[in-house]
Amino acid sequence: MLAWLRHSAAKGADVAGSLQGRVAFVTGAARGQGRAHAVRLAAEGADVIALDICAPVSDTLTYTPATPEDLSETVRLVEAQGRKVLAREADVRDDAAVRRLVADGVEQFGRLDVAVANAGVLGWGRVWELTDEQWDTVIGVNLTGTWRTLRASIPAMIDAGNGGSIVVVSSAAGVKATPGNGHYAASKYGLTALTNTLAIELGEYGIRVNSIHPYSVDTPMIEPEAMMEIFARHPAFVHSFPPMPLQPKAFMGADEVADVVAWLAGDGSGTLSGTQVNVDKGALKY
Ligand SMILES: NC(=O)c1ccc[n+]([C@@H]2O[C@H](COP(=O)([O-])OP(=O)(O)OC[C@H]3O[C@@H](n4cnc5c(N)ncnc54)[C@H](O)[C@@H]3O)[C@@H](O)[C@H]2O)c1
Repeated sequence: MLAWLRHSAAKGADVAGSLQGRVAFVTGAARGQGRAHAVRLAAEGADVIALDICAPVSDTLTYTPATPEDLSETVRLVEAQGRKVLAREADVRDDAAVRRLVADGVEQFGRLDVAVANAGVLGWGRVWELTDEQWDTVIGVNLTGTWRTLRASIPAMIDAGNGGSIVVVSSAAGVKATPGNGHYAASKYGLTALTNTLAIELGEYGIRVNSIHPYSVDTPMIEPEAMMEIFARHPAFVHSFPPMPLQPKAFMGADEVADVVAWLAGDGSGTLSGTQVNVDKGALKY
């Protein structure tokens, strides 16, 4: 009976904030989905290590880059949740910088439980028309940068000895064809492979690894005009970008994706590892 009561009390503490006492690392945290994840994880009780490049990534990208002010706003919002945050401008392609931030975060907060590998970039062009720079940028940030993020985070999670949860931000483009951005799809399919491999490799440490596959989220990365231009030139491509059954018009909000990330980060999703979670309001069933 006493044991049961103690168990219930522990569970009660979890319910008050499912990530109470834990530490989460979020990349691409200055704005968009990354900011939503950082703030939501803090609301659940986690201290946050936040990274973002806060600068243009490549001339081949046409949308507005994140700024240092964006990252400062994330810091303000995390602190408004009553949590601590260590935020730094760094490029996920810069191995030394990523490792340094993880080490500093672990030194400051004492452990690492959650990693959300979210930093990413999107470009457009048919596969055979892409330049080396377009290819290298998207593969370098989305695939290699995520691998570097995970390579820096995993030893700290293993050392902490508390198990943990890794959420890899792939895309609908990581489970289906998306004509007009084959390099992006290649990077996001690569993340699906990394996720599934790591789910097995990290099982013995109690670390779960799942990927999310968002579709049409309202962030600066999405440029409706660029997409319309591609569809005007290649009308057949439009079939690969179906409407969402639950929200046929417009995009979903970053907060809605953060709901899923917070659930995957916490113990409520404890049976899931190596799972591809579509965050698509049904679109991928077309
Ligand atoms: N918006 C969508 O519809 C959608 C759909 C599926 C998947 N995604 C993925 O979601 C993730 C978040 O994108 P978002 O929609 O919030 O777009 P976003 O452009 O608003 O956010 C991406 C963030 O990552 C940062 N970043 C980019 N390259 C970086 C680098 N080399 N190092 C460090 N930080 C870097 C950017 O500065 C930016 O703050 C990305 O991985 C993206 O591919 C987006």
